[in-house]
Amino acid sequence: MNKRREVPMRHLFDGSDLNVYDQQIANLSAGAPGPDLLSECCEIFRIATEHRMKFELENNSYLFQYGPTIGTTEFRDTLAKFLSKGYNSDVNKSDLVLTSGATHGLHLVLSTLLDLSGVIFVDEVTYMIALETFRQFNSMRIVSVPLKLEGPNLEILSSLIDQYKFKPSNGKIFWGVYYTMPTFHNPTGILFTEEINNQLIRLARSADILIACDDVYNLLHYDSHEADNDMICTRQPPKRLFAYDIENIKDDNWKGHVISNGSFSKILSPGVRLGWMECPPRCVEVFRDSGVLKSGGAANNYTGGIVTSLIQLGLAEQQLYKYAQKYGERLRAATQTLRVNLPATCTFHAPTGGYFIWIRFPENVDCNDFNQYCKKNFGVMAIAGSRFSVSDSHKNFIRLTFAFHQVEYLKQSVEKLCTAIENYLFSIKPL
Ligand SMILES: Cc1ncc(COP(=O)(O)O)c(C=O)c1O
Repeated sequence: MNKRREVPMRHLFDGSDLNVYDQQIANLSAGAPGPDLLSECCEIFRIATEHRMKFELENNSYLFQYGPTIGTTEFRDTLAKFLSKGYNSDVNKSDLVLTSGATHGLHLVLSTLLDLSGVIFVDEVTYMIALETFRQFNSMRIVSVPLKLEGPNLEILSSLIDQYKFKPSNGKIFWGVYYTMPTFHNPTGILFTEEINNQLIRLARSADILIACDDVYNLLHYDSHEADNDMICTRQPPKRLFAYDIENIKDDNWKGHVISNGSFSKILSPGVRLGWMECPPRCVEVFRDSGVLKSGGAANNYTGGIVTSLIQLGLAEQQLYKYAQKYGERLRAATQTLRVNLPATCTFHAPTGGYFIWIRFPENVDCNDFNQYCKKNFGVMAIAGSRFSVSDSHKNFIRLTFAFHQVEYLKQSVEKLCTAIENYLFSIKPL
């Protein structure tokens, strides 16, 4: 019998042992491309691998050797061109460091750039697995910053910075870091405004903190075309925070305070474990000197080579475009279904890109409890808001992902979710 192997997929679970590939329960928590999209990777990776192997046979097979610490010049040059086109804004190869994904990038930031008795400022709700990573650095303090629809509350961030600031020691560059996602934030889906981004840069400079941006959704922006009922990826991409920082790079006092931590996980495949950090020169120098990267001979030299070919052959761009089209259609299906079916006492934020929809329930609801009810009685689930908070707040929110499932299944699942919400709210209503 052809029994499918159980694979431990950390994103595909909600802290339980529920597999998103299990069609019995509609799991709306998976932050990954779905199987229909990933199946296309087999062919494009076959073509790119053939292309790269032909080259390696004629060129000393360097791909199979330890690589240069921050990635080969060819990889960084090819990636810089790919990103410049995708962002519609210049990216320099000298600013790029190869990683094995944004998770790895974040770990490198924490372990190499920061004083280990320093402070990690985070949005009051933030990427839940980043929080788990921060907690492992238990000599550092995690401080939560209130978040509005426009971005973080900068008055409060500024006063928290004044409260905690100190001089970094032991050769580390920064005493503190603000970890965030200015573009299609996880879990809220928001996009920080231009004004907030400008103020953030001013604040980071005056306090000399680092802003570590997980920019893993930046290339996934969707346009709505009401007339033909279609979504396409043509809108000007949002400007990444890094671009705000380098605007006055020629100033004598410019040092660089932003890292844009990117990844191929959402635009190609999470399994290939490949990403990059776009960094100011002073940070690139520290990474170049990192024992871990030196000893490893770049984080992922082999895959870096294959993806270089994938980009050079135009296949990465083609795949990104396909994913964005599909994600856009799915976003539209999910928001249309919510507009029709979500009970009026709940609200949601409809994003213009990324992966997530953030739904607010009435204040008295605990979505951990709702999620259990929903799974048991309606065979559908998402992630309760408290999982994204440092202080176990935001219990009356859930995050659902629209990217993973195909349109019809997604619509049915969101409809089920709405029916479950209606029934649940009725069941907890005081008599
Ligand atoms: C904000 C954010 N950062 C990082 C990651 C993980 O990225 P990677 O697979 O590149 O480690 C995710 C995936 O869910 C994410 O949402």
